[in-house]
Amino acid sequence: MKIAILGGTGRVGEGLATRWATRHNIYIGSRDVEKAKNAACGYSCRLTDQGFECQIDGTSNKEAVEKADVAVLSVPFEAALDLIECLRPVLKNQILISLVVPMKKENGSFEYTPPEEGCAALRIQHLLPGVKVVSAYHNLSYRKLCNPDKYG
Ligand SMILES: NC(=O)c1ccc[n+]([C@@H]2O[C@H](COP(=O)([O-])OP(=O)(O)OC[C@H]3O[C@@H](n4cnc5c(N)ncnc54)[C@H](OP(=O)(O)O)[C@@H]3O)[C@@H](O)[C@H]2O)c1
Repeated sequence: MKIAILGGTGRVGEGLATRWATRHNIYIGSRDVEKAKNAACGYSCRLTDQGFECQIDGTSNKEAVEKADVAVLSVPFEAALDLIECLRPVLKNQILISLVVPMKKENGSFEYTPPEEGCAALRIQHLLPGVKVVSAYHNLSYRKLCNPDKYG
């Protein structure tokens, strides 16, 4: 399967890409193509060094969506709403998996701050009526995702 990870240069993106890339084609999306290519190269090297074959490319968020069967939204909540607005013309038949958890840091600790709709995925679905939005992976810590010894 072809999977786009939007914001795939980030902490969760790295964990998902390195776990999926031995079985799927991964497109790391970013606002900055050079940053995406560097991240893709780093993830590929990590897997190759461990003896795995993989296919990971870096590109813009838009091109990643255009190439993929499934897109994973892996950017912070406020960024997600702006990004969706930009990607609306190219998000059509794909499934969009949203990892987004709206959190605000207040006095050194994080607070869950859901939108009026009840959760981030419902807001996103509202903005993208024709797209199949799936809400998933919210309770997977990037630290565990990036550690191949965790979760098998
Ligand atoms: N961290 C966790 O353990 C965890 C666990 C479960 C769910 N989540 C959710 O997963 C999502 C990603 O979390 P993360 O920790 O990986 O986030 P992150 O590392 O802070 O950011 C991910 C990527 O988002 C992009 N980004 C940042 N600001 C942006 C903006 N203003 N506009 C567009 N893109 C922007 C950046 O990519 P570019 O600069 O390359 O564009 C960045 O590399 C979040 O919604 C979070 O709530 C996180």
